[in-house]
Amino acid sequence: MDYFNFKGNELFAEDLKVTELAKQFGTPLYVYSKATLTRHMHAFEDSLNGKKHLVCFAVKACSNLAVINVMAKLGAGFDIVSEGELRRVIAAGGDPKKVVYSGVGKSESEIEFALSQGINCLNIESEEEIDTVIKVAKKLNVVAPVALRVNPGVDAKTHPYISTGLKNNKFGVSEEIAFELYQKMAKESCLKISGIDCHIGSQMTSGMPIIEATDKIIALYNKLLAVGIKVDHIDMGGGLGVTYDNETPPTPSEYCAPILERLKDLDVAIYIEPGRAMVANACVLLAKVQYQKDNGDKHFVITDTGMNDMIRPALYGSWMTILNAVKHEDGETVLCDVVGPICESDDFLGKDRKLNVKNGDILAVRGAGAYGSSMSSTYNTRRLPCEIMVDGDKSYVIKKRQTYEDIWKDECILG
Ligand code: LLP
Repeated sequence: MDYFNFKGNELFAEDLKVTELAKQFGTPLYVYSKATLTRHMHAFEDSLNGKKHLVCFAVKACSNLAVINVMAKLGAGFDIVSEGELRRVIAAGGDPKKVVYSGVGKSESEIEFALSQGINCLNIESEEEIDTVIKVAKKLNVVAPVALRVNPGVDAKTHPYISTGLKNNKFGVSEEIAFELYQKMAKESCLKISGIDCHIGSQMTSGMPIIEATDKIIALYNKLLAVGIKVDHIDMGGGLGVTYDNETPPTPSEYCAPILERLKDLDVAIYIEPGRAMVANACVLLAKVQYQKDNGDKHFVITDTGMNDMIRPALYGSWMTILNAVKHEDGETVLCDVVGPICESDDFLGKDRKLNVKNGDILAVRGAGAYGSSMSSTYNTRRLPCEIMVDGDKSYVIKKRQTYEDIWKDECILG
């Protein structure tokens, strides 16, 4: 559930009309709802109650400092995949001791920075990375808390680009290799074996794959116990899907209950790393209709936002719901492609939509909070949008619209 609702014909963000926000801050505009973020964080917290746990918000889904700060104040930990994300967490007031660090390509200097900040756990993804962590830990004279990311060969039944738990994905190591590597790591006094980590994919709309993965991780946990290796947490990653169209994903509590049930008798904390489910529906992207035209059989609605601000439809063919921020009582509904100003044919927000729009209308792209702003670019030298967060009847700028000079400030002309 979110706090973007119609009152009469008008879409509101909490207590504010989104058309007023568009007028005040301009478009394209990312509008976040603090109450929705809060609600989602509580939903995850509540669903893991009764067992020691850490909910680590996946920063890659939305890395705005204000969003991280809201989550930190609610007690969240963070899942990061780069030094930059760790620096964001710290800048936003997050606690490095609640940070887990995943990713197949962490550089030596990134590992050094993470260990120097005292993060909770490094989720190691290869044998060679173990060697780098040992080298850095010895150099810093610290004991590095580590987990291995296990790739359990479970099909998350999602888009192939966001499936990560199959044997032909680059992520993690198999259970067999993990078993060997844990024994190797156990011999190193500069490593503390802290957990077992796993993340099988994103936008999962069924709870079955994560149950299958949990069972495989528990089997590894027991195998490790049998050789005297005891971990203190099991991290089942992120991946819970959201409703973009007519998907019916489990709720956080439906998703977590079977994991909790399976882990309840083990002496471990549960970590999870939700990104999308936390933030997708806590945000709409507002765009203005600029022009309309017919080409051949197609009617095009041309807006001032596109793949530069929201790349998901172009990259994954994702469906994003597009709504009129004010519903018309007159006019007619037409079948149209909603497109942007970028010079690419895959610059669309939605294809074959039924909309009744007039030029100047504000459209709202729902579910824009996850992998929206964080994947945006300045392609075609278009400025990154302004972002605001609504809290009740107040709105706060959480990212100023870029200036053109911002875009090229790091570029230099020869001589
Ligand atoms: N943990 C790890 C290690 C991850 O790689 C990811 C996402 C998450 C947690 C969070 O997953 P979530 O709860 O958000 O599903 N750009 C794509 C999604 C890429 C997901 C990458 N990894 C999209 O827009 O659909």
